[in-house]
Amino acid sequence: MKKIIIAIDGYSSTGKSTMAKQLARALGYIYVDTGAMYRAVTLYALQKGYIDENDFRKDALVADLKAIDLSFKYNPELQYSEMYLNGSNVEKEIRTLEVSGYVSQISVVPEVRQKLVALQQEMGREKGLVMDGRDIGTVVFPHAELKIFMTASPDIRATRRYKELLDRGALISYEEVLENVQKRDFLDSNREHSPLKKAEDAIVMDNSAMSQKEQFERALSLVQMRL
Ligand code: C5P
Repeated sequence: MKKIIIAIDGYSSTGKSTMAKQLARALGYIYVDTGAMYRAVTLYALQKGYIDENDFRKDALVADLKAIDLSFKYNPELQYSEMYLNGSNVEKEIRTLEVSGYVSQISVVPEVRQKLVALQQEMGREKGLVMDGRDIGTVVFPHAELKIFMTASPDIRATRRYKELLDRGALISYEEVLENVQKRDFLDSNREHSPLKKAEDAIVMDNSAMSQKEQFERALSLVQMRL
């Protein structure tokens, strides 16, 4: 059967990865969470002390980019691939509010983007891929057969993310989460390189009032029209 590339972009915490995982499972496609890659580079920068609340030594990070090895390994129990940084599973560490607080500064660095975009394009060479992020339909795969741009109100997104973090045992307030979501959206949408924006040919899905099942079914019908 014909295989396609599905690009899912949108604001933070719009449920991109939940829908992308469901689609990949249903279609037997590979799922790639590009946010996890930017988060892993951020974790590396924090571990190496290239970034903290007072300082960002961008040149030191750029000079050290070759030492960063990123890979995904499929976890059959979870039924999706987890992020590995230099051989270690970092799936949990990259999801903390600390990493979320720095990731938009790391993702503006052109050299970081170049490295990650090249890896992402390589993963899509054989198609049969669902990839989510901010610039997938605009920069990584401008010729993707299906592009979906997801959005929802900031309040709904922050509530979803807050519940997710609480479930993982994080000690945070709703206000902190809302602030982070809004700040990241602002930085991601206003950066110079590959800002978050809807590709002209992307289909907008505002899921403020949609269940996960409805989102999945809508996306699947869009896929089926393209096969
Ligand atoms: O998708 P997630 O919220 O995990 O992404 C974390 C951050 O990584 C985003 O806020 C953005 O700064 C960056 N990112 C990006 N380009 C992508 C995916 C994520 O700049 N394709």
